Amino acid sequence: MVFVETGCGVSTISLAHAGKDNNARIYSCDINTEKADELTTLSGDKIKNVEFLIGQSLASLEKIAAKHDTINFLFLDSAASAMYTFNEFQTVEKLLKPGSIVLIDNAAIPGERRLLSPVRKGKILVPYLLASPYWEVKGYPDAGDSMVSAIMRDTADYADPAYEDPEYIDHWRRYFAHELK
Ligand SMILES: C[S@@+](CC[C@H](N)C(=O)[O-])C[C@H]1O[C@@H](n2cnc3c(N)ncnc32)[C@H](O)[C@@H]1O
Repeated sequence: MVFVETGCGVSTISLAHAGKDNNARIYSCDINTEKADELTTLSGDKIKNVEFLIGQSLASLEKIAAKHDTINFLFLDSAASAMYTFNEFQTVEKLLKPGSIVLIDNAAIPGERRLLSPVRKGKILVPYLLASPYWEVKGYPDAGDSMVSAIMRDTADYADPAYEDPEYIDHWRRYFAHELK
């Protein structure tokens, strides 16, 4: 098993714990050396099974992709950017196989009414996953800063044919207003 997180922190302790139970190879990718060092000092033996990859997570994920053919669990929680998070996902997308799980922090199912933190790491990735028939997607508005998980299935049964992005705006009237001027 291979478990990967981008953005270290308290989550690293949980990842290490879950990884121990699954005898997993665990990677934590973070750009902040001091944070990773302090976390290692504070956590002691709890995270000794975690391999830190320091630097831009996109580069670290490329290294992981060169070494492994599967990621079983991927937690995306680094830069506060929807595009960066989507790029992280795409960097390792080919390693995600049926049974692989992706967890995104600061993310919500589009249209979720609950007030969340202002960061929207899943703003691009979540609709992408929802559109795929192979990803089963679930929102957890009460977990972390609101999280979304997705598990890849081996049958193409999971796209919701009725799903439409509630934030989609049809600007057709603006076209006519412009034409009539
Ligand atoms: C929200 S914190 C992670 C919190 C942690 N996952 C937790 O739940 O405790 C975001 C982390 O991402 C790291 N980070 C931000 N931009 C990054 C990048 N481009 N590449 C790698 N790490 C990055 C920061 O240094 C920070 O430690």
